[in-house]
Amino acid sequence: MTISINEMTGDTARLVAGLEAKCFSDPWPYESFINTLANEHAQYYTIHRDYAFVGYIGMYNLIDEVSIINVAIEPAYRGTGYGRMLMERAEDFAKNHGCPMITLEVRESNTPARRLYEVCGYQAYAVQKNYYTNPKEDAVLYRKAVNRLGMRN
Ligand SMILES: CC(C)(COP(=O)(O)OP(=O)(O)OC[C@H]1O[C@@H](n2cnc3c(N)ncnc32)[C@H](O)[C@@H]1OP(=O)(O)O)[C@@H](O)C(=O)NCCC(=O)NCCS
Repeated sequence: MTISINEMTGDTARLVAGLEAKCFSDPWPYESFINTLANEHAQYYTIHRDYAFVGYIGMYNLIDEVSIINVAIEPAYRGTGYGRMLMERAEDFAKNHGCPMITLEVRESNTPARRLYEVCGYQAYAVQKNYYTNPKEDAVLYRKAVNRLGMRN
């Protein structure tokens, strides 16, 4: 069995959009994922087991932080460590770009995602009231400090 993580392409963007539609009530359409390919600040990765598409993670590289847009794993592959592998890839991306901080937000009720972030070392630091719609819900904001490459702890 071979696990690989690759930059999203025009072809895999269709798989990403399909999984996004399965997971979220306000999914980005395929065209939005295609648009990120030309955005130098956006980066999406897909994870594969042998030739099967397993999931994706997307992030923006802002001036002094990486902001995770979304992470999702196909239902059949959940609970076996793939989400954590993608979070580690986001951390490598932040380190490689000299970003000292990773941030993200999540629906308050999304226990699997919140647990994933917490086991990966993220700390909740704020709540944004009624941030989400459809259904309306608060967002919990998480962040994690990362050591840039070459920096000591
Ligand atoms: C959140 C999500 C990406 C997690 O991916 P995953 O591959 O299942 O996660 P992993 O197997 O890597 O699990 C990592 C940790 O997350 C936690 N976790 C994962 N699924 C969980 C669940 N259903 N309930 C509680 N904790 C869970 C566990 O603590 C786990 O660590 P452990 O295995 O040491 O106990 C996946 O559930 C998913 O795609 N959900 C739908 C999309 C979504 O809500 N994305 C987040 C949007 S902000």
